[in-house]
Amino acid sequence: MKTANQYIKPVTTRINDRGNIEIGGCDLTDLANKYGTPLYIYDEATIRAITGSYKSAFKEYPQIQMMYASKAFMTKAICKIMEQEGFGLDLCSGGEIYTAFQSGFDMTKTLFNGNNKTYEEINYALECNVGIISADNFYELGLINDIAEIHNKKAEIILRVTPGIECHTHEYIQTGHLDSKFGFDLTQTDEAVELILKEYKNLKLCGLHAHIGSQIFEKQVYYDEIEVLFKEIKRLQDKYNISLNKVNLGGGLGIKYTEEDEPISVFEAAETITESIKINSKKYGINSPQIYIEPGRSIIGTAGVTIYTAGSSKQVPNGKIYQAVDGGMSDNIRPSLYQAKYTVEVANKPDETEKETVTISGKHCESGDILIKDINLPLIEEGDIICFYDTGAYGYSMSSNYNRVLKPAAVLVNNGKSDIIINRQTYEQLCESDVIPERLKFKE
Ligand code: LLP
Repeated sequence: MKTANQYIKPVTTRINDRGNIEIGGCDLTDLANKYGTPLYIYDEATIRAITGSYKSAFKEYPQIQMMYASKAFMTKAICKIMEQEGFGLDLCSGGEIYTAFQSGFDMTKTLFNGNNKTYEEINYALECNVGIISADNFYELGLINDIAEIHNKKAEIILRVTPGIECHTHEYIQTGHLDSKFGFDLTQTDEAVELILKEYKNLKLCGLHAHIGSQIFEKQVYYDEIEVLFKEIKRLQDKYNISLNKVNLGGGLGIKYTEEDEPISVFEAAETITESIKINSKKYGINSPQIYIEPGRSIIGTAGVTIYTAGSSKQVPNGKIYQAVDGGMSDNIRPSLYQAKYTVEVANKPDETEKETVTISGKHCESGDILIKDINLPLIEEGDIICFYDTGAYGYSMSSNYNRVLKPAAVLVNNGKSDIIINRQTYEQLCESDVIPERLKFKE
């Protein structure tokens, strides 16, 4: 069965009787009029379809807890949806912990990741009762222990390791290979466990964690990852007579940005994972461990689209046509950073047959601010609404105020209703943190 990550468009996308693209029962041109552009639009039905798929795909293995990787897109409303869907949260900064806490999330169902957690962040995580901390390095072990001691707590930790598995994705989003900034090398785990057992009395080691990369299309890497982790758990349990019953497999399942992408379904991933757990539990004598997975992009990527308004255009003599939109690299850095490709349509005339090849550029002062090159689209006129699919993950969350361009709004659509989940930033908010030191103020 196909799952939502295998479709380019949100599951409710259709062309309505006005000939416009509609998502979640809302005409995109109406949304543009009501909320302005650029605008991120999230389809609630798609989010719930994919969380539902994860739940049914892992029915076979009830000792699994899905932890939504908040870094993909986080707002208080998304925390609410994840809570309703029975997901926990993977958090990776003080800001993400704060957002989850403010949304009223059950913090015991959260996990704190990151390769350089600060004193303040760890302190805040323990204050908020974050469920598990994934310790990434020796420095953090000492830090977590010291802070837990002040709180008079035993912090539950798992060790992030680099399993030495390479997946075929962009090198910037590979993480499981040996030469990575994340986690303990497998040759360092003995030293870490010994420190925990002998010195760090305020740490309770519960298991291991790995994350091999993002936008993964292959099944085999999950299979191999589980084998490496289970083998290491068995070795550590035997050597140190400890029990490690939590295994966090990270996230990574890919989505379909363009026709060329062929991600596996949530069911295929789940089947590989459960199969590998079964085989390796038996092989290494590990009894039904608690498994965590941290999907981010596959939960929220397909559900989100960005709409822009077409503005100026430029025909280079004997060259390209550049069509500019009212956003760009400040709301979607992925094309510039990863050469990411997207599928694009014109929301107010998706079916028009007369087409031309254009390059869509952003409005920022940077030649690299190109959202997509040489794409065949209906003839675009000023004011047309251009829709980029699959911008739900790592779009808003990596947005910036480059050129002091305001961050767009985000709306959640469902059954013909649209609700703001992030307000458009205002000029006042933009300058809110700016300070002019007294000595720079004009004096008579
Ligand atoms: N768990 C850990 C420890 C991670 O580092 C990540 C992503 C995830 C889970 C979620 O992975 P996902 O299911 O979303 O693939 N900015 C890049 C992606 C960076 C991913 C970083 N870590 C992009 O826009 O493609």
